[in-house]
Amino acid sequence: MMSFCRVQILVLVSLTCLFPATHGWGIDGHFIICRIAQARLSNASADAVKQLLPDYAENDLGSLCSWADRVKFRYHWSPALHFIDTPEKLCTYQYSRDCKDANGEKDRCLAGAINNYTNQLLTYSSESTKAKYNLTEALLFLSHFIGDIHQPLHVGFTEDKGGNTIDVHWYTRKTVLHHVWDVSIIDTSEERYYNSNVENLIDTIQQNITGVWADQVKKWENCNSTETTCPNIYASEGIKAACEWAYKGVTEDSVLKDAYFISRLPIVNLRLAQGGVRLAATLNRIFG
Ligand SMILES: *[C@@H]1O[C@H](CO)[C@@H](O)[C@H](O)[C@H]1NC(C)=O
Ligand SMILES: *[C@@H]1O[C@H](CO)[C@@H](O)[C@H](O)[C@H]1NC(C)=O
Ligand SMILES: *[C@@H]1O[C@H](CO)[C@@H](O)[C@H](O)[C@H]1NC(C)=O
Ligand SMILES: *[C@@H]1O[C@H](CO)[C@@H](O)[C@H](O)[C@H]1NC(C)=O
Ligand SMILES: *[C@@H]1O[C@H](CO)[C@@H](O)[C@H](O)[C@H]1NC(C)=O
Repeated sequence: MMSFCRVQILVLVSLTCLFPATHGWGIDGHFIICRIAQARLSNASADAVKQLLPDYAENDLGSLCSWADRVKFRYHWSPALHFIDTPEKLCTYQYSRDCKDANGEKDRCLAGAINNYTNQLLTYSSESTKAKYNLTEALLFLSHFIGDIHQPLHVGFTEDKGGNTIDVHWYTRKTVLHHVWDVSIIDTSEERYYNSNVENLIDTIQQNITGVWADQVKKWENCNSTETTCPNIYASEGIKAACEWAYKGVTEDSVLKDAYFISRLPIVNLRLAQGGVRLAATLNRIFG
């Protein structure tokens, strides 16, 4: 697993150099969310996921959770679906105002994509419409995008491309604020507290989901209405967290170290947990 991850990380780094504004949680962030989700699936939903995954994935959704980042070149229409931007540094999100791509085309944003792939997957058991879509791709996009929408800076400001144009130092290393939230906080946490083993971090998050967070989990799972999924809620939380935690106190060339890491790590852990719980809840509602 570890050597596999290393190779993937190199691929991602080269991708993110070309598409700095659109990458998602790093490999580990997405892997964690998909692993947490797959462990919470109902039987019907676990069966559907198993059917839809390609054989080489060996029924491990986590192994393909970053597939959507790897097809950004091939599917040139897809990078816009990885994020949402709010204008004028607004700390609120509105679907009708914000869910569009750079050309102003409606629905082409992270929330629109989550609705799109949820609706496609809802045709899973209907023989007549099923053939219209590639539901393997729909599953991989949805799993990735529910992850992305929980990364606070994937619902960030247009002006700085979700923190991609804000140069910072993570301890001694030069990077951008967006990357700190995709990768650096998780990596530093794994190195410091989990013996550099992502499985140990997953175990701890799962223990907290059934422990300290247990009474909040129902609320995370439910949407306000009878909707199958609710990206507008996830996005509203996201821009709020971006303002209150990610952007807060950061300016061009800030040096971020322990004070930032230790105060922001609980937000990252919470968003990873919510992403996993909500991906599972969404898939369970889709597949019954
Ligand atoms: C779900 O599957 C497990 C093992 O595959 C089985 O033991 C259990 O009875 C199933 N539950 C339901 C509700 O079908
Ligand atoms: C919906 O999914 C199709 C198939 O992948 C894709 O071509 C289209 O761009 C998607 N639109 C949105 C808004 O996600
Ligand atoms: C569906 O998408 C997957 C991943 O891109 C691809 O490997 C597979 O061939 C596609 N299936 C069909 C029927 O086109
Ligand atoms: C789990 O919960 C404990 C107690 O609130 C907290 O100290 C710890 O940071 C949490 N860890 C993760 C990974 O969520
Ligand atoms: C969902 O409901 C809560 C509580 O009633 C409300 O505060 C929130 O604004 C609603 N969110 C959306 C996106 O409708």
